[in-house]
Amino acid sequence: MTHYFLRPFTLADYPAAYALWERTPGIGLSRADEAPAIARYLARNPGLSFVIYDEHGALVGTVLCGHDGRRGYLHHLAVEPTHQGRGLGRLLVERSLEALAAADIDKCHLFVYVGNARGQAFWSHIGWTRRHDLVVFSRYTPGREPPAGRTHDARRLPHETDAPQT
Ligand SMILES: CC(C)(COP(=O)(O)OP(=O)(O)OC[C@H]1O[C@@H](n2cnc3c(N)ncnc32)[C@H](O)[C@@H]1OP(=O)(O)O)[C@@H](O)C(=O)NCCC(=O)NCCS
Repeated sequence: MTHYFLRPFTLADYPAAYALWERTPGIGLSRADEAPAIARYLARNPGLSFVIYDEHGALVGTVLCGHDGRRGYLHHLAVEPTHQGRGLGRLLVERSLEALAAADIDKCHLFVYVGNARGQAFWSHIGWTRRHDLVVFSRYTPGREPPAGRTHDARRLPHETDAPQT
C-alpha cells in the first residue's frame, strides 16, 4: 500500500505542481499560474492550499485555495492519474474546506469548464451543488490585455478553444 504525505502548498512545490497541471486535462493555465502570481497567491492565502506526495517523493496531488474575506475559492485540484481513485482528491478538498471554516469563511466556490464532464461528476459526487443561477463574466484589467491574436493561456483543451482563462 502506498503511503501519502499531505502538507501545505509552498513555493518549493511549484515546479512539480505546474508540471502536473500542464499534463492534466481540465486544468486551464494562464499568466496567473506563473511563479510570481502563485507566490503572491500563497502569501495572501497562507495554509489554505495543499499538496500530496507519495512515499517516493513524487508530487501526486494539488489544490489551490484562497478567500477574499467573504467567500472561498478552489482552483487546480489535480491528482496524478495513476493515484486517482484512492481518496486523494476528496482529502485535498476537505483539508481546504476545513481551513476555510477555521478562517470564518462559510462557503466556497469553484469554476469548472463546461467541457469537463468528469470533473463536474466528481464535484457532484462529493457533495457540491451545481449552480444554475450564475454565469461567470470576466474582463482584463486596463493595459493587461494579451497582444492581439494571442491569449495568456499556456494550454487549453481542444474543446475549450473559445473558453476564456479563469
Ligand atoms: C477530479 C480528481 C481530482 C478526482 O481525484 P481522485 O483522487 O481520483 O478522487 P477521489 O479518489 O478522492 O474520489 C472521491 C470520490 O469521488 C468519486 N469520483 C472520483 N472521480 C469521479 C468522477 N469523475 N465522477 C464521479 N465520481 C468520482 C470517487 O469514486 C470517490 O467516491 P467515494 O468516496 O464515494 O468512494 C481527478 O480525477 C483529477 O485530477 N481530474 C483531472 C483534473 C480535474 O478535472 N480537476 C477538477 C477541475 S475543476
